[in-house]
Amino acid sequence: MAATNGSAFSVSDNAPGSGSGAGAGVTGTGPVANGAGERDAVIRGRGITVGFGRTNILENLDLDVYRGEVLGVVGGSGTGKSVLLRTLVGLQPRRGGTIDMFGTDIDSASAAERNAVERRWGILFQGGALFSSLTVKQNVQVPMREHLRLESSLMDELAELKIAMVGLAADAGDKYPSELSGGMIKRAALARALALDPDLVFLDEPTSGLDPIGAADFDDLISKLRDTLGLTVFMVTHDLDSLFSICDRIAALGKKRILVAGDLETVMNYPDPWIEEYFHGKRARATAAGMSQQ
Ligand SMILES: Nc1ncnc2c1ncn2[C@@H]1O[C@H](COP(=O)(O)OP(=O)(O)O)[C@@H](O)[C@H]1O
Ligand SMILES: [Mg+2]
Repeated sequence: MAATNGSAFSVSDNAPGSGSGAGAGVTGTGPVANGAGERDAVIRGRGITVGFGRTNILENLDLDVYRGEVLGVVGGSGTGKSVLLRTLVGLQPRRGGTIDMFGTDIDSASAAERNAVERRWGILFQGGALFSSLTVKQNVQVPMREHLRLESSLMDELAELKIAMVGLAADAGDKYPSELSGGMIKRAALARALALDPDLVFLDEPTSGLDPIGAADFDDLISKLRDTLGLTVFMVTHDLDSLFSICDRIAALGKKRILVAGDLETVMNYPDPWIEEYFHGKRARATAAGMSQQ
């Protein structure tokens, strides 16, 4: 049930040549500067190493997520984007490294401190991951039941508010996931991620499987929520439209670490075969052309 929490954050810039080369880890102290002065990191990961069996998926990975930003996390299929997300929210054990969330070192935090931190984020898992036997309203209430002690009438009111916030009609609350379209499922999952009024939301491929209009609408929604609620957003995505339209910074995952993080231009120009194909291939050119016509 912890999986229903969610949160958002930004990744620190690991510009090429910044000294955080593979294997070296980052032992630097103090906030990471990104050229615009020091920024407030909601999440700070250092030397994160995660593996299964004999293979490490992530090795000495450094990442900062800044308050109020939408950070887009990209990378080839199977590079460990979802593993990274699950690691940050404590659902995946680490083999090494430290994670600091909202100024709290997760490993040395007491259970109560960790619980307080967990309440500050919400998660939208890849595919939505709603409980199929629960209605939308009941799904949205899962994190509330886990973390809060509220009367059921108040929980109903709160769930209805979240459902309206994500642009679903009121009657969607009593529907089961099987009765919803793909876009409605994503919105319902987002409503659940927002259940505890998080400061940070983690979104794992929120627009995958949506048609371009549905995906653009969802991007608009995330952007609006970020502006009105002051959210920080950690968003794994394959969607170039999302990267171009709503992400403030991008972090590219590859070679078991963050290859490069920064603004679109910085990441696009990073010399790496996957990045070149992704940002400069046929599909990217079509997206860029479409964007410039808008
Ligand atoms: N529970 C697990 N057990 C073993 N291997 C896993 C597990 N979860 C993920 N992996 C492996 O970790 C790698 C990264 O997976 P994932 O983070 O899901 O990739 P993606 O970047 O596409 O989200 C893949 O090779 C995957 O097979
Ligand atoms: Mg994934």
